[in-house]
Amino acid sequence: MTLKKFIFAILVVIIGAGLFWLNFSNDKTDTSTTTVSTSNVVSTTDTTKGNHRSLIVFFSRTKGVYGVGELPIGHTHRIANYIQSATGADMYEIVPVKEYPSEYRETTQVAKAEQANNERPAIQGQIPDLSQYDTIYIGLPIWWGEYPMVVHTFLDQVNLNGKTVIPFTTHEGSGLGSVEAVLAKQFPEAHLLEGLAIRGSESDSDAAKTAVQTWLQRIGVLGQ
Ligand SMILES: Cc1cc2nc3c(=O)[nH]c(=O)nc-3n(C[C@H](O)[C@H](O)[C@H](O)COP(=O)(O)O)c2cc1C
Repeated sequence: MTLKKFIFAILVVIIGAGLFWLNFSNDKTDTSTTTVSTSNVVSTTDTTKGNHRSLIVFFSRTKGVYGVGELPIGHTHRIANYIQSATGADMYEIVPVKEYPSEYRETTQVAKAEQANNERPAIQGQIPDLSQYDTIYIGLPIWWGEYPMVVHTFLDQVNLNGKTVIPFTTHEGSGLGSVEAVLAKQFPEAHLLEGLAIRGSESDSDAAKTAVQTWLQRIGVLGQ
């Protein structure tokens, strides 16, 4: 190798190492992060505010919604967002593989048949690993007085014993339905806290935000 070629090779190595180092140090100073990337995780939180020991699991629809048809964001999703803002918890959305009808009446028929047959509709993507979480919120719209069956699919694939479990629902009259009783039966060793039920049609309001805040304080998640 000539001296010229040797000096050129040394320069290439030095410049390459410099570029790698610059890139690496940029990565280290970036504090905003997307959390739990293995599944249908929807939250992007700032690590300075995040609470990565708590996870908000929810199912919610924007189509076939009682009284309104279509929404920009589902009622239960909205409540999940209020909880996320107050607590900084991670979020995971249960997204079914199957498409439910976009009409309310048809959706109720599909949901009724799923319940009658005790179905477990498949969930898109991977269920998140819950081992890093102490507290799991479970949010759902009440369907025929109880869980949409796709939420049972989720519950059957996880073990919430030993964790703090906090249910919340949106509904149009049924409140929490069977939600607390089912959780208590399936996970007798879970620390089940009082749930919150909000009327879906009232979810986009200051009153709902306040109800979430007051409830989180009452159950001891937020300071009084
Ligand atoms: C299939 C189906 C069944 C429902 N059954 C009930 C019910 O038994 N009791 C009730 O109060 N509301 C019932 N609702 C209304 C929903 O619980 C309510 O609209 C909820 O806020 C929807 O939330 P989402 O937008 O997050 O899906 C039902 C809605 C659907 C689509």
